[in-house]
Amino acid sequence: MSEIATLKIWRGDDKKAGLWETHEVPFERGQSVLDGLRWIRANRDPSLAIRFSCINANACKECMMELDGTTIYACTARLEPRVMSLSPLSNKQLVRDLVTEIAPPGERWPLARK
Ligand code: FES
Repeated sequence: MSEIATLKIWRGDDKKAGLWETHEVPFERGQSVLDGLRWIRANRDPSLAIRFSCINANACKECMMELDGTTIYACTARLEPRVMSLSPLSNKQLVRDLVTEIAPPGERWPLARK
């Protein structure tokens, strides 16, 4: 039987009213957390909001999120065959799900007010 990684993912667009969703993804050694999230979007839920650009070069810095409460780059953090809790950056403005506003304040488009 093949191994699985269990990704517990915070979902929502309001930090006070989100919920945790759990997905099991096929695990292969060497995969990144971003690989697991992209697998979920392709195979389970295309509405999951994640942001990435360079995919694995650690160059764009767009895939930052928290893994078990620690800030990581999802493209370089290794997927592991265990429960991994993923949440948006707690110190940034939330956009939706795992996406937060990371552009410097003077360089961002205004977000719609809720
Ligand atoms: S996707 Fe570019 S740094 Fe992670």
